[in-house]
Amino acid sequence: MAVDSNKLIIFDTTLRDGEQSPGASMTRDEKIRIARQLERLKVDIIEAGFAAASQGDFESIHAISGIIKDATVCSLSRANDKDIARAAEALKPAARKRIHTFLATSPLHMEKKLRMTPDQVFEQAKIAVRYARQFTDDVEFSPEDGSRSDMDFLCRVIEAVIKEGATTINFADTVGYAVPELYGNMLRTLRERIPNSDKAVWSVHCHNDLGMGVANSLAGVMIGGARQVECTINGLGERAGNTALEEIVMAVRTRKDYFNLEIGVDATQIVPTSKLVSQITGFAVQPNKSVVGANAFAHASGIHQDGVLKARDTYEIMRAEDVGWSANKIVLGKLSGRNAFKQRLEELGITMESAADTDAAFIRFKELADRKSEIFDEDIMALVSDEQHSHEHEYYNFVSLTQQSSSASKPVASVVFSMGGKEEICKGEGNGPVDAIVNAIESKVASGAELLLFSVNAITTGTESQGEVTMRLSKAGRIVNGVGADLDIVVASAKAYISALNKLHSKIEKLNPQL
Ligand code: KIV
Ligand code: ZN
Repeated sequence: MAVDSNKLIIFDTTLRDGEQSPGASMTRDEKIRIARQLERLKVDIIEAGFAAASQGDFESIHAISGIIKDATVCSLSRANDKDIARAAEALKPAARKRIHTFLATSPLHMEKKLRMTPDQVFEQAKIAVRYARQFTDDVEFSPEDGSRSDMDFLCRVIEAVIKEGATTINFADTVGYAVPELYGNMLRTLRERIPNSDKAVWSVHCHNDLGMGVANSLAGVMIGGARQVECTINGLGERAGNTALEEIVMAVRTRKDYFNLEIGVDATQIVPTSKLVSQITGFAVQPNKSVVGANAFAHASGIHQDGVLKARDTYEIMRAEDVGWSANKIVLGKLSGRNAFKQRLEELGITMESAADTDAAFIRFKELADRKSEIFDEDIMALVSDEQHSHEHEYYNFVSLTQQSSSASKPVASVVFSMGGKEEICKGEGNGPVDAIVNAIESKVASGAELLLFSVNAITTGTESQGEVTMRLSKAGRIVNGVGADLDIVVASAKAYISALNKLHSKIEKLNPQL
């Protein structure tokens, strides 16, 4: 394979590694929305999931494969025939497809997790790549826990899998143990020592356990010669997360003088993508997060503000608009009609499943516009998410609520919602309004779930903004996030709670690839 030495391939794994964050599991429709947005962002490869993990994952990859036209669609697969065949089946409709197979190579993982000898791992890796090549000529192999593996053994395995036809080698720092210089040097040594290393693209995949995911990835690029970076939007991923796509892209762009690499990503889509992923997964972006945090371009000190007014580049190394900060643009209002609404959906890359869904979203939009004079893009995105959460096929559906609180008495709530198609009215009281609505709902549902996290964010600026609530529930080892938005944060809380209950109810059994 010819490797373009100036191009840095962006491999997005938000829908796979990102989804492995506790509570970040997404439905098929949510994944499709994110995949469409990733295509607008112009990433090169979308890892759409792990086909053998669950029926839901399989269906999501299959659907995304049929929709995505420009990017390569990839499925993860353990190094066995069953997983690989499942990945190939899920990817069938894709215009460009990649199978990504992996096997642990560190002594610790081989002995304790896989209970395999190095020779067995060597053979299995070869067989897996050979088999994957029967379905596509784009096959990626990852030595899992690569950064803690023995160099001689890695050289042996990687040389062999390249001979079998692996076209990308992804050097995984699975547990975020690497430090930049050592990681970069390891990669360089591998490329120098493996005789056929020039037949593959080298890739980095770095977790953020020590906060060095981006630094390690960039060292892998500059010292090690990697030309693919695996990353996720907002740095989502297992444990402390993965390498943040937005940071890689903007580091390479902003410091072109040093990196001198081309990236195909449309950076103006970074912030919309970040917002979409945060809204769907319920993982809020910290305000001081690089590039996509609310404060990333806010200058608080007088000296800085003065400097920026005189010359922007005194304190700004990037321009907010270049990464898609559009400063709360008012897009629609009370008088906007169906066509304007549909056109804005299209401009935002939102495709509703059916005309009936578009009509339902339009009705919601009109209701919102009656209560809120200025409608922003963020409002439309929240509204569409809400609409997708309130489908008839959901077991629980929010209908309405009444709630009373005062500083002198215990808050009380009455909630109307449907459960399995039957409408329920329930009452509850609590220490606060949210406690009251949860107690009301639980008086009928009795889920036994524990609330791990409650967070509320204003979707846009101003007190007129909608509030977006995330509730993270845990039950029997499963963790789910529910998200709800409304002008009334108590209503948003009820919607978030019901959305989390739906996720628990769906009981999707999902296999974690790394177990
Ligand atoms: O972190 C890791 O090792 C992975 C592999 C499956 C590439 O996610
Ligand atoms: Zn990973």
